[in-house]
Amino acid sequence: MPLRIAIFASGSGSNAENIISFFSSDPRFEFPVIISNKKNAFVHLRAEKLKIHSVTFSREDFESGESILYFLQSQQINAIILAGFLLKIPIKLIQAFPNKIINIHPALLPKYGGKGMYGHHVHEAVKNAGETVSGITIHYVNEHYDDGNIIFQAKCSVLPTDTSEIIAEKVHKLEYEYFPRVIEEIWG
Ligand code: GRF
Repeated sequence: MPLRIAIFASGSGSNAENIISFFSSDPRFEFPVIISNKKNAFVHLRAEKLKIHSVTFSREDFESGESILYFLQSQQINAIILAGFLLKIPIKLIQAFPNKIINIHPALLPKYGGKGMYGHHVHEAVKNAGETVSGITIHYVNEHYDDGNIIFQAKCSVLPTDTSEIIAEKVHKLEYEYFPRVIEEIWG
């Protein structure tokens, strides 16, 4: 039986697209749906191109988790991947999918994580702190932001001349390279 994975994404969705393309001819994985909290997010256009159903739930839906859980169960979803998803995951979902929800964070946790640490904020904080290294963290999701057990990290160098945009680019490269492989490793 293939693992049926829902991807949650709030923005561009380049990781979502990369993961779906990586597993496009792998019978062990199915990606029936992309879920967003923003109806205008670019990820919906990517979903259309990939011929994958995408839906938007409201902030209130994400606070209670009830209607989302009902929807995921109706789609026979077994696992969830957060790929650039910005809201907290409701406890109902965490309890319904034990060790089956993972997130990617664009820095080396436990540094530069937590509420408000997303997107460019992370890379700016890394730059402003004068770090010489950044990277990615893939971790299980619990009820706190960026706090669950770490599964995998990869590093990239940060040069004094790197802007936060350059750091973001280096980090994205790591994400594209490693996120699908880690998924394969833990759930394949
Ligand atoms: C990624 O850097 C991810 O680590 C972070 O948000 C970004 C999402 O990029 N949480 P995309 O939407 O996958 O293009």
